Amino acid sequence: MKKYIFIHGKNASLSRYELQCVFGKHMAVQTDLFSVLEGELTVDQALMDSLGGTIKICEVFDRDPVDVILNEARNEKILFGLSQYGGHERLSDILQGIKKKLKNHGRNARFLNNNYANITSGQLNKSFVLDKGIDLIRCFSKGKEYWGKTIVFQDIDAYSKRDYDKPRRDMKVGMMPPKLAQMMINFARPVPPLTPGPLQGENSDSGFGYAGTTIYDPFCGLGTTLMEGALRGNPVMGSDIKGRLVHSTLENLTWLQKEFQIPTTDNRQPITCFQHDATQPFPEKKFPKNLVVVTEGYLGPPLLRYPNQQQQKDIFDLLHVINFKFFLGLSQIIPKGNRLVMTFPFFRMKEEKVFYPEKYLREYEKAGFTIENDLRSLLYERENQVVGREVLIFDRV
Ligand SMILES: C[S@@+](CC[C@H](N)C(=O)[O-])C[C@H]1O[C@@H](n2cnc3c(N)ncnc32)[C@H](O)[C@@H]1O
Repeated sequence: MKKYIFIHGKNASLSRYELQCVFGKHMAVQTDLFSVLEGELTVDQALMDSLGGTIKICEVFDRDPVDVILNEARNEKILFGLSQYGGHERLSDILQGIKKKLKNHGRNARFLNNNYANITSGQLNKSFVLDKGIDLIRCFSKGKEYWGKTIVFQDIDAYSKRDYDKPRRDMKVGMMPPKLAQMMINFARPVPPLTPGPLQGENSDSGFGYAGTTIYDPFCGLGTTLMEGALRGNPVMGSDIKGRLVHSTLENLTWLQKEFQIPTTDNRQPITCFQHDATQPFPEKKFPKNLVVVTEGYLGPPLLRYPNQQQQKDIFDLLHVINFKFFLGLSQIIPKGNRLVMTFPFFRMKEEKVFYPEKYLREYEKAGFTIENDLRSLLYERENQVVGREVLIFDRV
C-alpha cells in the first residue's frame, strides 16, 4: 500500500487534527512534525491548497535515496533538497554523504539547503527544484525511518495574495489567518460541492441548486473565513453587526472570484451576506438545510499589553453575554449532526495561559451542543501576541 507524508505547519495540534478530519482512519502515524497516510490518494495542488495545516505532501519510497535521485535527475548537474524531521544525524553530514555518493556515480550535484537548514516553501517556490531536480524528506517516528520525495507544497504566493491584496483590509477588525480559517473549515467537515444537486431547502432564498454544504460565518468581519470556504467551491453565507463590514466582505468575495479559479460545477457559486446582530434570533428562512458554522467570533478589544486578572475576567464576561445569546439562536438553524467551529480567545501571560472559562462553555452545551475536541487541545498562537485563539468544535445534538 502506498504511503504519503504530510509535513505539518507551525501549530502542530491543529495540523494533526485537520488531517484526522479529512482522512480519518487512513492517518497511520502522527507526530508533532508530520503525519503518515496509508492508502491510494490523488495528490495534487488542489488537495494541497485545501489543507491549511500542511506545508508539503511527499510520497514515501523504500529504495536507496541516491538511486531515487539518479533516477529522477533531469539535468547533467543534479539539483536536490533535503529536509529532516526528527532524527539526530546532522543534516550537513547527510547532505555531504549524498553528494559524495553521487560523485562516485560520476555525477556532480548541488544541494539547495542554506546553512544546512531544512528547505522552506519559499525556497521550493523560487528554485523550481521540483521541475529541475528533486526534493527529499527523511522522517523518524518511534525508531522507524521514512524517506520520501515532495510531490506538492503550499502555494505561499497565493496565501499572501489573499491576505494582503484583497481590496478590504482593516487591522482593527482583526486579521483571521487564512490557513487557520481553512483548518477550521476542515474541522467542520462540509461536503464539497463536487456534483450539482437539488435545491437545498424550500426556504433558501439564494436558489442554490448545489450539493455542497453552506459555510456560514455569523461574525464575518472582512470575510476571511468565507473567502477560504468560497475557494473550495462551497456556497457561503456571512453576516456581521456592522453594515460597512458586510459590504467589505462582499467586495473581498467578488475580488476572490475574479482573481482565483473557483472549482464550482456551473460557475454559479452562491454567496449571501447580510447585516445581523448575532445575539438576536436568526432569520430562519434565510438558511439552507445543510449548513455548518465556522467563525472567529468577537475576540474582545485589541490588547497590546498583558491584561490584569480583573481585565481578563471583564473581557470573558463581556464575551459570554454575547456568546450565550448567540448559541441559543444558533441552535435553531444548525441541523442536528452538523458542526459549529469557533475560536475563543486566551491570554498568553508570561507564566501561564489563561483560557476562556469552562463553566461558560458548558452553558453553551446546554443549548443543544456537545464539545467534540478536548478543551485546550487546539491552540493557535503566534510569538509576541498576547491573545491566542483556542478552537472548539461543537456538534449539534
Ligand atoms: C474578529 S472579527 C471576525 C473576523 C472574521 N470571522 C473573518 O474571518 O475575517 C469579529 C467580528 O464580529 C463582529 N461582531 C461583534 N459583535 C457582533 C454581534 N453581536 N453580531 C454580529 N457581529 C458582531 C465585529 O463587527 C467583527 O467584524
